[in-house]
Amino acid sequence: MKVGVVGAGYVGLIQGVGLAEKGHEVTIIDVDKHKVKKINEGTPPFHEPGLKKALNSVKLRASTDYASLKDCEVVFLCVGTPPKDDGSANLKHVFSAAKSVKEHLGGGVVCVKSTVVPGTTERVGELLGGNFSVAHNPEFLREGSALSDFRSPDRVVMGGDEEALNVLEKVYQNFDCPKVKVTVRASEMIKYASNALLATKISFANEVANICQLLGVDASEVWRGVGLDSRINPRFLGHGVGFGGSCFPKDVQALRKAAESRGYDAQLLDSVLKINDEQPKKMIELLKSMLPDLKGRRVGVLGLAFKPGTSDLREARSLKVINILLEAGAEVLAFDPRAVSEAKKVLGDSVSYAGSVREVLDNVDAALVVTEWDVIKNHDYSGFDKPLVDGRGVSKPNRFYRRIGKPF
Ligand code: UDX
Repeated sequence: MKVGVVGAGYVGLIQGVGLAEKGHEVTIIDVDKHKVKKINEGTPPFHEPGLKKALNSVKLRASTDYASLKDCEVVFLCVGTPPKDDGSANLKHVFSAAKSVKEHLGGGVVCVKSTVVPGTTERVGELLGGNFSVAHNPEFLREGSALSDFRSPDRVVMGGDEEALNVLEKVYQNFDCPKVKVTVRASEMIKYASNALLATKISFANEVANICQLLGVDASEVWRGVGLDSRINPRFLGHGVGFGGSCFPKDVQALRKAAESRGYDAQLLDSVLKINDEQPKKMIELLKSMLPDLKGRRVGVLGLAFKPGTSDLREARSLKVINILLEAGAEVLAFDPRAVSEAKKVLGDSVSYAGSVREVLDNVDAALVVTEWDVIKNHDYSGFDKPLVDGRGVSKPNRFYRRIGKPF
């Protein structure tokens, strides 16, 4: 099939390459000519395992010109929906992409892939007019495993009328997984509900871990026992410093805002965000229980990326932790195996950087574990004779060790 993808960001490029791998003829449109050039040269504009190899093994063309979408049976809109100042999603890129598609295509199926509040895809349909059918088809990709998530999804969700669903069925016919066919609004909501539930699991795990600590219980033991209940499952019960990234914080906030604008007070979602905001402070409380005055102290921050396997710092807990440390007058020495150049863009020279865990430990009065990269998680801290506060769970702690959710 001839398939178009608008937006060569994270979602769009994975969608384009993934569908091209399944034999579709894919054209990707992006306004950024440098990005387009890179893609056509076979270089992905961001790092994702396996993506370069996959990009170079498929037939895919990128362009800045919407006219290249000619003859596409379906066009996926994969543009960003960044948060506005009030937390609601900014939809202007979705609408302008739809307008440009309308100017260059006579009709067909336009499928919104971006995460949008229910009702948005219908508005895209009104803008496109009667020659088009609209659909929604959310992505559930995790950074660091996006391509394998795309190739072997747990499910493909598709929302639309019969005509649109038939076209999407053809697009995804070679995917061996359940296909969930629903209304456009339900599809839009499935994405929000999935991310909000995963974020809720994490905040729940964090709240219970905080209570465990007060009651003299090790939360890690609790989750081992709880997670084996097949109705619950052990994933996303990792307690610690909380969740970050480009999706969970933004999506929970946007869903909460959408509820609020319709007069509903989303109390659970509110608490999910509030607990997540508090966890970095919990780490500093644990640190202060051993080192009450942080002024002039050198504190090591181990891990900067919002999770292992990425250089992405969006909503990273490390930034919150560092902010509190700097406000308390501490100096920060940070280490991350991959995110230092990204960190420098955000933090500038307000912190110093080390090249290894060892270098941090040799030069600080205390250290905090914020992101569980293998080199950080598996490091042997037993020889480190200073306070170590763990927000993720290291395997070989030291004598002066405090962990969120572990009594001391
Ligand atoms: C997430 C969703 O998993 C994906 O389906 C969606 O489309 C985009 O958002 P991603 O942001 O790449 O993917 O990261 P994910 O692996 O889900 O982790 C999100 C955050 O939660 C990270 O900061 C991670 O450290 C944290 N987390 C995760 C926990 O604190 N505890 C856990 O048990 C799991």
